[in-house]
Amino acid sequence: MDAFRLDDRVAFVTGAGSERGIGRAIAEAYARAGALVGLADLDEAGVQAGADAVRAAGGSATGVRADVTDPESVASAVADVERELGPIDILVNNAGIVHGAPIQESSLADFDRVMAVNVRGGLICLQAILPGMMARGRGRIIWLSSVAGKQGGGFFGSSHYAASKAAVIGLCQGIARELGPYGITSNAIAPGLILTGLVARSGGPDIENQLRERTEASVPVRRAGTPEDIAHAALFLASDAASYVTGEILDVNGGAYFD
Ligand SMILES: NC(=O)c1ccc[n+]([C@@H]2O[C@H](COP(=O)([O-])OP(=O)(O)OC[C@H]3O[C@@H](n4cnc5c(N)ncnc54)[C@H](O)[C@@H]3O)[C@@H](O)[C@H]2O)c1
Repeated sequence: MDAFRLDDRVAFVTGAGSERGIGRAIAEAYARAGALVGLADLDEAGVQAGADAVRAAGGSATGVRADVTDPESVASAVADVERELGPIDILVNNAGIVHGAPIQESSLADFDRVMAVNVRGGLICLQAILPGMMARGRGRIIWLSSVAGKQGGGFFGSSHYAASKAAVIGLCQGIARELGPYGITSNAIAPGLILTGLVARSGGPDIENQLRERTEASVPVRRAGTPEDIAHAALFLASDAASYVTGEILDVNGGAYFD
């Protein structure tokens, strides 16, 4: 099972501040597999709490505030993590926001906001970390797309959100082609419904229950996903077990396309 371990690898996970979120679960899974983890988020208290939790479980972690839409903020967060933990081997572009309004009520400013975080933010993080990965001839880039990016929408979110998650697929696959010769892989995970704060913020007060019930009634696995379901896929993609996997968009959705 050594091929699935991440001993002494350094990971930078964005959007890891949310307690119930996917980024936090990825950071914790990586730490359990032996990685040293930098948790980055707008939410500074959230990343400090996440890093504390990893350390309390015997792992190594540091929490840094970062706004993925701001190259200076990302550069400074990357420098802090590398000073504390060492050169970054694994980048998880997980930070994301949802936009839920119908297209006729959505502005260009809404579009720009969603693209700035979900697409441009990932690119900014990549640009900050890539020179070191290229110099060392190895690296793992993992993106969070969505079922919405593959079929124009999913369980929640609007066309703007779907467009951003489809753009993530294009970037992920383009980068896989370009960076494969440098020992760097680029893969994405396309989750179905995962009950996190993002879902709770995607609609009215009962949205989580509505989406949970719809999922339990429709997807073949008959349940909503958990952040750990995504973390386990992200662990595989970061590990040596996935060294011949690149440009892949891994569905983790309980069979949602077969409902
Ligand atoms: N939850 C789902 O059902 C689902 C499904 C498909 C894809 N995804 C994707 O998975 C990723 C994680 O989602 P989640 O459900 O854990 O969401 P979440 O809201 O729990 O966590 C997202 C985190 O991103 C952070 N963030 C937002 N803007 C940021 C910025 N500018 N800079 C740095 N951090 C920022 C937030 O503070 C938050 O901690 C997102 O990219 C989301 O689109 C989620």
